Amino acid sequence: MREKVDVLLKEALIKISGAADSVGLNDLRVKYLGRNGELTALLKGLKDIPPQDRPAAGKIINEAREAIEEALKHKEEQLKAQEKQRRIEAERVDITMPGKRQALGTLHPLNIVKNEIVDIFTSFGFELCDGPEIEFDYYNFQALNIPKDHPARDMQDTFYINDNILLRTHTSPTQAHVMESRKPPIRILSHGKVYRSDDDATHSPMFHQIEGLVIDTDISLCDLKGILDEFARGIFNENTKTRFRPSYFPFTEPSVEVDVTCSMCGGEGCRLCKGTGWIEVLGAGMVNHRVLLNCGIDPEKYGGFAFGLGIERITMIKYGIPDMRLLFENEVRFLSQFRKGR
Ligand code: DAH
Repeated sequence: MREKVDVLLKEALIKISGAADSVGLNDLRVKYLGRNGELTALLKGLKDIPPQDRPAAGKIINEAREAIEEALKHKEEQLKAQEKQRRIEAERVDITMPGKRQALGTLHPLNIVKNEIVDIFTSFGFELCDGPEIEFDYYNFQALNIPKDHPARDMQDTFYINDNILLRTHTSPTQAHVMESRKPPIRILSHGKVYRSDDDATHSPMFHQIEGLVIDTDISLCDLKGILDEFARGIFNENTKTRFRPSYFPFTEPSVEVDVTCSMCGGEGCRLCKGTGWIEVLGAGMVNHRVLLNCGIDPEKYGGFAFGLGIERITMIKYGIPDMRLLFENEVRFLSQFRKGR
């Protein structure tokens, strides 16, 4: 019996110590110690040997069993430790590797410039308003002293939806909405998309305007000049000067076109200003008394000024952008130049 058990034990210990993984180890447990296992078979065979020899034989078998259990336990711990080590190796990350850089977006140049313009005028106490982009003919034209079939309509190539409804051609209709619904004093700024049937390097069928309107008692052209001087210095640079040229808009009288000294050459004359030293930036004037009347404001008591400017135009001048289409193509190499802190 001892010999049999020794052979079995030796074989078991060798196999156990050579087990490759926990599955193989479990198979060995079943092979030797399981219900039909080899050592269990020896134990069952005890009944066939003489009763006086049984205790000694049982002891031998039990010792072998303990030795096998001990070896299994030891090997199991060893395999677990190995598996853990393998997992750690597999999951190892190199914390010294540089991280992946996130591609950051940036404000669109038109939004950068719009925000700057809004900041300047709100610092003067202007309040931001909005108006509809799909507008009645009445607000876009008639209230602003441009009757149906008046030649002044030719100044703006209009997308009509029907006889009475159109895509607003400027932000000026917001003036009429605000004057109709509020009492002076009024000091508002409105911005947004406007539409005209135009498309070339300096015109786009959709572009953005900002409109200003001030209505109060004792407002003069000097107030307009003072505000626009400050605006020009704020949006371009400290040395920028403005110049008023007489012009015509049906909704203002007198009307002016406002030029600023060229931000590229400072007034010397260059390519940007076509050698003149001046660049036209906006239209403005004193609100026509007919517009006041149309909107229910007493022109004997109140007066005011208004101005309207194109955000694309200011952006192109400020950054020396030669073609307006660059602002709408969403070419990332172009847009990423406006990222702050580059
Ligand atoms: N609405 C004019 C345009 O789009 C710009 C303009 C001129 C607006 C004079 C005004 C203004 O408010 O007073 O061409």
